[in-house]
Amino acid sequence: MWRPSDQPPGGSGDSRTEKQVTRRDPGGLYGALDAHYLSPADGFRELADTYDQRMAGNPLFLLESTQTLAALPSLGGRVVADLGCGTGRYALQLARMGAERVFGVDLVPEMLEVARRKARRAELSDLVEWHEGDASVSGGLPLPDASVDVAVCALTLSFVPEPAPALAEMARVLKPGGSLVVSDYHPHGLCAARGEGFEESGGRDKAPYLRFTSAAGDECRVAQTPHLVADIFAAARAAGLTLDHVAEPLADRRLANTYAGLRGLVGVPLALVLRLVKG
Ligand SMILES: C[S@@+](CC[C@H](N)C(=O)[O-])C[C@H]1O[C@@H](n2cnc3c(N)ncnc32)[C@H](O)[C@@H]1O
Repeated sequence: MWRPSDQPPGGSGDSRTEKQVTRRDPGGLYGALDAHYLSPADGFRELADTYDQRMAGNPLFLLESTQTLAALPSLGGRVVADLGCGTGRYALQLARMGAERVFGVDLVPEMLEVARRKARRAELSDLVEWHEGDASVSGGLPLPDASVDVAVCALTLSFVPEPAPALAEMARVLKPGGSLVVSDYHPHGLCAARGEGFEESGGRDKAPYLRFTSAAGDECRVAQTPHLVADIFAAARAAGLTLDHVAEPLADRRLANTYAGLRGLVGVPLALVLRLVKG
């Protein structure tokens, strides 16, 4: 099956030792495979050095980024934040698109370090600030109330157990009238992946995961939560955000002909992209 993280492993920058891996199988919920079950913080720390190579050419990213960029309002002269910025895929692009100031915030310092290096190489360090922060809890973002015109949160919400506190925190930092563009793995796509993983593992691997093999050859899993679209809407409404635009790009035959792992997913929505406006 196609897995978001099963791109060619790329470089060898994995200096992890066995000691640094956290084995995590909360309550036995996720089965008992011979794999390392990592929290998002541990998983993305592990992935940081090879994340960009692994994701290059990922079909989900192709579908998602087309729709996310199309959903953005005009950025000229705006203060912009990329929440769950990872290695800066959007933060750097937003800076190139005319934002006056960009804040990239992520839970994982190692991801931010890669982003910082890329900003230096692209001579964008003057425009973009990088900060550690947690978008999933009240006050977790290191940004003042009502300070941001446009925020992007890409492919991060499914790593957060509950959408409501995260959307409330993102809404907090938006100015009135500001826009939040949220993209994520579509819950249909995640559930389809869960079904295949469940079968492959003989019923032991019960959650949808970001799966990857570390450079040391360990099977690693980071659990994802397929939030129902209805739950995301309810959370957005409670946070004072109004839905303004939605896109659900599907895996199509052309894509499946290019990426063999997508053959079983033709017609399945892989990404969900929302634009929400603060009232
Ligand atoms: C799949 S990556 C996406 C990175 C980037 N947005 C992109 O689209 O390339 C998910 C990112 O979310 C970050 N993340 C996960 N939970 C988070 C949280 N609660 N607060 C902030 N960042 C978080 C991870 O560290 C990781 O960098």
